[in-house]
Order: sequence, then structure tokens, then C-alpha cells
Amino acid sequence: MAAEPRAMPGPLSGLSVKLITIIVAVILTAGIVIYLPLVANYRDSWLADRLRVGIVAARVLDAVPDVMALPQTLTDRLLNSAGAKAIVYRRGGQSQLLTVEGVEMPKEVVVADMRATDPATRIVGALDTLLAGNGRTLRIVGDSDGTADGVVEVLMSETPLRLGMLAYSRNIALLSLIIAAVTAIALYVFVSRTFIAPIRRITANMVAYRQAPENANLIIQPESRNDEIGIAERELAAMQTDLFSMLRQRRHLADLGLAVAKINHDLRNTLTSAQLLSDQVATLDDPKVQRLAPRLVTTLDKAIGFAQSVLDYGRQSATPPKPGPVDLHLLVDESAIEAGLMGHPEIRFINEVPDDLVINADADQLGRVFVNLLKNARQAFEANTGSTPAPAITTTYSETADELTLTISDNGPGLPPRAKENLFVAFQGSARAGGTGLGLAIARELIEAHGGKLVFVDQPKGARFDVILPIATRLH
Ligand SMILES: Nc1ncnc2c1ncn2[C@@H]1O[C@H](COP(=O)(O)OP(=O)(O)OP(=O)(O)O)[C@@H](O)[C@H]1O
Ligand SMILES: [Mg+2]
Repeated sequence: MAAEPRAMPGPLSGLSVKLITIIVAVILTAGIVIYLPLVANYRDSWLADRLRVGIVAARVLDAVPDVMALPQTLTDRLLNSAGAKAIVYRRGGQSQLLTVEGVEMPKEVVVADMRATDPATRIVGALDTLLAGNGRTLRIVGDSDGTADGVVEVLMSETPLRLGMLAYSRNIALLSLIIAAVTAIALYVFVSRTFIAPIRRITANMVAYRQAPENANLIIQPESRNDEIGIAERELAAMQTDLFSMLRQRRHLADLGLAVAKINHDLRNTLTSAQLLSDQVATLDDPKVQRLAPRLVTTLDKAIGFAQSVLDYGRQSATPPKPGPVDLHLLVDESAIEAGLMGHPEIRFINEVPDDLVINADADQLGRVFVNLLKNARQAFEANTGSTPAPAITTTYSETADELTLTISDNGPGLPPRAKENLFVAFQGSARAGGTGLGLAIARELIEAHGGKLVFVDQPKGARFDVILPIATRLH
């Protein structure tokens, strides 16, 4: 049974939301990845600025070697311009100290060595400042003049650096959000117009079309675009057009079938009346009538048989199988009786299906299939009496991991070429005088309704038909 059509997703579910979520997530992740080196860089240049004041102080101390000779106002100005508590200049085993008057030297300091240049140390340093830098004292260490013999150290509070870094981080976060939003909106607009809107259109069309496939107005009008969506639309339109004409054809055929069934029904009744008359005619004494009557009776019998099987064919297709436990060996025996094989004067019937085999199938329908197949074999022998030395029909059973097979084979004349060409096609497969060509077509339909297959296996002598059912059919 076809599933209920699903409603289209609203604006907050479906493809568009998934798309926006992905875009924003990717941009924010990229933002975080870029943020770390950026903030480390920010810290580096901040520290380098402060160190530069220390280097200026070192230049001054190079010129005036005696610290005491420097006026305190100059020292204070130098230190204040860097926001530093003290500057130390070490050279040639000596160190000189510049401090703000009265400032206390902290015992614990965190070292920021500007001579270390590897990125990982810098990023770790930046994270350390951000997370724990509040209130600490920092000792910035660097070369005084690019050579290793002079070292300058600047002591200062880490708090202003941390505040600066926080402000910088906020700016970056804001910027990333703006970029994410702008990109997401731009991409969303683009993708909505070029992909999501057409996909929604196709989806809505498919949902609507499935509910009324016989309405030609619902066939999608493809847009003139050459990409995958354009192809999908054109293919869909072609498929819907095909389906539309197939359905229309099927309806016409069904209507015709109904008409044929009605005509056929009346025909059968008329023929039955004629049969009654012919029976009475047969009792007349006239020798001419006596000679012709039997032929008239058989002709009428055939015509009625034909009308009846056409009626049956119309009725058959409508009923789905009603499965139940079936003893396969027994069913084959019963079918052989019905097909007139039990006690047949010439044909030997061999049933090799195991005794204890029970399958889950519609006994009535499966029986009809077997009767059809066995009757065909019998009729083939009878039409060619004497051509086969020891006529025999054998049924065997076999199974694999996923299928069970019941084989009906005979050593008779085999299928005439005309029958082979249209095998299993209703009204066309018959190559037998008086045959309607419905037997195999019906049999195949019945087996397929059971989820199985009916196949003709070509072989050099005789005919062989395999009834194949899914292994799940077997009960024990
Ligand atoms: N075992 C067989 N040996 C030889 N020919 C066969 C055998 N089974 C089927 N055929 C051929 O296949 C044809 C089609 O068989 P099918 O049962 O479909 O129709 P039918 O027997 O002619 O008519 P219906 O069964 O409707 O009365 C037969 O006419 C016959 O020529
Ligand atoms: Mg037949």
C-alpha cells in the first residue's frame, strides 16, 4: 500500500536550516582557529612595545654608566612611559636597575621571554595571560641590541596587557559574528534561490502528482537550466508524462476488459442455451442429424469452455492469495488427480516431493497452478500419442538458502516454437488446438502474487517448469 504523502517541511525545518547551521558552525570554528595566533600576535607586539622602552633605557645607561647620576625625573618618565615598575639592564656580568621611587619589588613574577620565537610557546603564553594574568607581575626579557651580550628586563603589571587582550578578543568575536552572519545570509539567499526553492518546487510537485497522477495539469513544467536540477526536472516531467499515458491506457484497457467480460458472459449464456438445444437435437432419429450432432456438441463445448476461462481470467487477478499450511506432496497428488493423471492408461506420474513438507501458501491457487502445468504435459502427450516410448511426468523438490523449487518435468515432445515465443502471455501462448493460452499466464500471475517465480527451463527432451517460492514460505 502506498504511504501517506508527507507534508512539506516548514521554514524552520528542512534543508535551509541545516544549511545555515553548517555555515555558521564552519565560520565560527574557523574564527576560533584564527583567533589563537592573532591574540598571541597582539600580546607579542604589546610586549615588544614595552620592551622597546627598556631598550631606550639601556641606550641611556650605555651613555651614562652611573645610574645614580641620572636625575630621578628622567628615570620616572622613562618608566612611566612603559607603565613599568622597574627596568633591569644586564651586560658583561653587571646589572643596573632603574625603579620608580618607593616602589616595592614583587617576589613572584611571570617571565615573558621575547627571545623565544616558536608559535606554540607564544600561544600558550597568550592563553596563560588571558586566564590567569589578573594582578600578576610580568618580567619581559629581551636582547638590548639584537646581540646576546646585553639583556634588558622590564617589570610591570600584567593586568593592562590582559585588559587589552580581552578588548581585542571581543573585537575579533564581534567581527567573526558579523562575517558569519553576512556570509550565512548571502549564501542562504543564493542557495535558497538556486537550490532550495527548485527542490521545494520539485518536492511539492511530486507530492501533489502522486495524489492525482491522472491530472495532466500537475505534470511539472521544467525550467530551462542545464544543471543537475534542470535535468532532474526534465526527467521528472518525462516520467510523469509516461506514467500519465500509461495510466490512461490502463484505464481504457480496463474499460475494454469490462466490456469483453459482459459480452462474454452473455455469449456463454447463449451458448449454454444452444447446448441444451443441441442435446435435444442429438436425440432425433434422422441419421444425418445423428452424424452431425456430436460435432455440434463438441464445438459448443469448446466455445463454452473458452468463454468460461476468459471469465475466470477476469476474476482471478482480483483475489490476493490467502496463505495457510499446505502439505506439498498431498497437494501435488490431488492436482494430478484433477489433471487426469492418476490411473492414466499410458502416462506414468511420479511424485518425488518429500512427504513431510509443509509450506505457507494459498492451497487453492497453488493447486490451480499445478493442475495447469500437469494438464499441459498430459495434453502434450495425448496430442502426440506413441511418439514417446515411456511417457512420464515427474515432480521433484529442491531448495537453496533462499528459495524452494518445485519442478514439474515430462519426457514428452517439448514446447512447440510458437508456444515458446509467447509463453506466459495471456491469449497468445497457445499452440494447442482448443487451447486458450491462459493456463500459463494465470499460473505465473498466481505464483508471482506469492512472491515467487514460474520459469520455463529449456531442455533437449520434454518440457520443464520450475515453481520457485521464497524459502520463508516453508513452514517445516
Ligand atoms: N509440458 C508441455 N509440453 C509441451 N508443450 C507444452 C507444455 N506445456 C505447455 N505447452 C505449450 O504451451 C502452450 C501454452 O500453454 P497454456 O497452458 O498457457 O495454454 P493452453 O494449454 O494452450 O490453454 P489453456 O491452458 O488456457 O486451456 C500450450 O498450448 C502448449 O503448446
Ligand atoms: Mg494449459
